[in-house]
Amino acid sequence: MNELVQKLFETRNLSDSELISLIENSDPDTSSELADRADSVRKKYYGKKVFLRGLIEISSYCKNDCLYCGIRKSNKNAQRYRLDRDSILECCRNGYELGFRTFVMQGGEDNFYDDTFMCGIISEIKNKYPDCAVTLSLGERTKKSYMRMKEAGADRYLLRHETASEELYRKLHPHNMSLKNRKKCLFELRKIGYQVGAGFMVGVPFQTNENIVQDLRFLQELRPHMIGIGPFIPHHDTPFADFKGGTLELTLRLLGIIRLMFPDVLLPATTALGTIAPNGRELGLKTGCNVVMPNLSPVSVRKKYDLYDNKICTGEESAECKVCLQRRIESAGYEVAVGRGDFATL
Ligand code: 5AD
Ligand code: FES
Repeated sequence: MNELVQKLFETRNLSDSELISLIENSDPDTSSELADRADSVRKKYYGKKVFLRGLIEISSYCKNDCLYCGIRKSNKNAQRYRLDRDSILECCRNGYELGFRTFVMQGGEDNFYDDTFMCGIISEIKNKYPDCAVTLSLGERTKKSYMRMKEAGADRYLLRHETASEELYRKLHPHNMSLKNRKKCLFELRKIGYQVGAGFMVGVPFQTNENIVQDLRFLQELRPHMIGIGPFIPHHDTPFADFKGGTLELTLRLLGIIRLMFPDVLLPATTALGTIAPNGRELGLKTGCNVVMPNLSPVSVRKKYDLYDNKICTGEESAECKVCLQRRIESAGYEVAVGRGDFATL
């Protein structure tokens, strides 16, 4: 057994230089030891259960201009859409019938979805489906807005920190965005009582292994309930079109490391991971992941929520995605969990 894998398993931590050496270690035996350890830890906390989150992509409008993202406001070729209240409720009805007990409303930063609209739809979903969790992923908003939406019934909030390095943050975002505000939002969300998800992209342009260690340190400080990581995938209409994407190997290694550092965290096998390799999500599940997020958006808008090139699941009906994922989960040796799937120690 690789010493660093063993030490990380036993102590849930390594020094910066040890982390870097494990991140850089591409030896296949080490990778499989890491995956096995990660799998045994996830089984200790969650058994073979995999939680499903129905993802509803409510808007492709965004007032931000992140250099990596296909729906950035400068992308004049992006196709924009907004789901209205009835369409969102229809997605939930459909999802509930398919067995989903968490609905994630995600979108670009779109002022159309003000607090009045969001609180209305959140309370309506909670009224209709009291056994369901509502997760929001709507970017940076004011503390007051986060509080109002929590009071309306929202349970969880996903806001990837994207990178914990000031220097890298500035290379990935325009100057009107700041890491400071992003972190502030995350700590506020936590304090207000949301179950919080943070995370970052693997292999984003200019990212160093030291930057990744900074991400892991930030996650140790924040202690989120969920950690979303996936490979960076270039989008042809962005300034990062010609950069290389993140690799399957590095993403899997980081998933394993994260599972050992945060044994009880909710860790999704992301759509981006399934996009760069046909069996990417299955490999993620075998390396510590315990969440998948099937797409519940209406098929008519799916291709328009175009964050990166070649995104999978854009032609399938929700029911097809559900069946496909169920099959993938079972073929990897796991089982679909029923229920909301809250953080293990809640
Ligand atoms: N490749 C991979 N992930 C991306 N995201 C945005 N653009 C890309 C891309 N080109 C991720 C960001 C964001 C999440 C919703 O999608 O991390 O937080
Ligand atoms: Fe929308 Fe970045 S382009 S949040």
